[in-house]
Amino acid sequence: MQKTQLLFLLAFIAQLYSQVPVQANPQSDKGKNVRLYDPLKMDKLKAKLKKFPNLQLADLPTPMIHLANLSQHLGGPQIYLKSDNLTGHGGGGNKLRKLSYVMADALEKGATDIITTGATQSNHSRMTASQCARLSLKCHLVLENRRANYEPKHINSGNVFLDKLFGASVYHFKKGTDTKKEMELLAEELKKQGKVPYIIPGGASNELGAAAYAEAAMEILEQLNSMQVNARIIVSATGSAGTQSGLATGLQALASEVSLLGISTKDQKLAQEEKVFELAKKAADRIGIPQNEINRN
Ligand SMILES: Cc1ncc(COP(=O)(O)O)c(C=O)c1O
Repeated sequence: MQKTQLLFLLAFIAQLYSQVPVQANPQSDKGKNVRLYDPLKMDKLKAKLKKFPNLQLADLPTPMIHLANLSQHLGGPQIYLKSDNLTGHGGGGNKLRKLSYVMADALEKGATDIITTGATQSNHSRMTASQCARLSLKCHLVLENRRANYEPKHINSGNVFLDKLFGASVYHFKKGTDTKKEMELLAEELKKQGKVPYIIPGGASNELGAAAYAEAAMEILEQLNSMQVNARIIVSATGSAGTQSGLATGLQALASEVSLLGISTKDQKLAQEEKVFELAKKAADRIGIPQNEINRN
C-alpha cells in the first residue's frame, strides 16, 4: 500500500466488547462502553445534511476493515481501518467526499471552469481534475512546488501526469507563492473571457467539504454500531483540515463519546488545532448545528 493511500485511511482503535451507543473518557474508563451516537441526533443530522446539494461522486459506504493481524502483532487495542482510499473515480481518497458537496455548489452557481490549488503532487488536485472531466468542466490547477529545487521528474510525473491526462490546465509556481491570489487573478482573467470560474480552496476544505466529513462521521459510527465495535478513538490525518473538522462536527452533533485524534501533515499542533476548530464552527453554522454544541476539545 502506498504512503499516500495509507494517509487517506482513517484508523480506528477499538475495544471489542460491546454494541451500540455507550462509554466515556477512553483513558480513564478503559473497560466501559462508549456511546457511539445518540440515535435521535443521528436522524436530525441526516435530515440537515440531506438539504445540501450533493453530486454523490464517491462510492459509499467505504469498507471498515478489522486489521486483526496488525492488532495482534502490536498486542494493543483492536485496530480498524476506514478505507476512504476506495471512494473510487480518478484514484479515490478523502477529497472525493468533499468534492461531492463542493462541486454540487459549483454547478448550482453555473460554473464553467474550476480553479483549485495544492502542492505539485497534490491528490486533491488530481481528484478535482478527474471530477471536472467527469462533469465536463474545465479544470485549472495552481500548483506550488514546495520542494527547494526544481526536479523535472517531480514536476512532470505521477499526479501531474494524471492531471494532464484528465484534461486539466496546470500552472506551476515556486515555493512560497500566494496561490490564493494566483487563483483570484486567474478567475478574473477567465471572467473577461466570458467564463464562470469557481474557486475550490486547497483540499476542498471549506464548510461544504467539512459537511461531507460530518456525513462520513455518521457512516463510520453506523458501521461500527452494526459491527458491534465499541470504538474509543478515531485517528485521521489532518492537513487542509476539512476531514478532521467535519468528523469533529459530526461526532459532536451526534453526542458521540468517541474521541478524535488528528495527525498533522504539515502545520504545528496549535496552529492546526485552531484551523480545525475555526472550520468546524463554520461547518456547524452552515449545517445548522448550534455553535454551543461544538467545542475545541
Ligand atoms: C493523503 C491525505 N489524507 C488525508 C489528509 C487530511 O485531509 P484534510 O486535507 O481534509 O485535512 C491529507 C492531508 O494532507 C492527505 O494528504
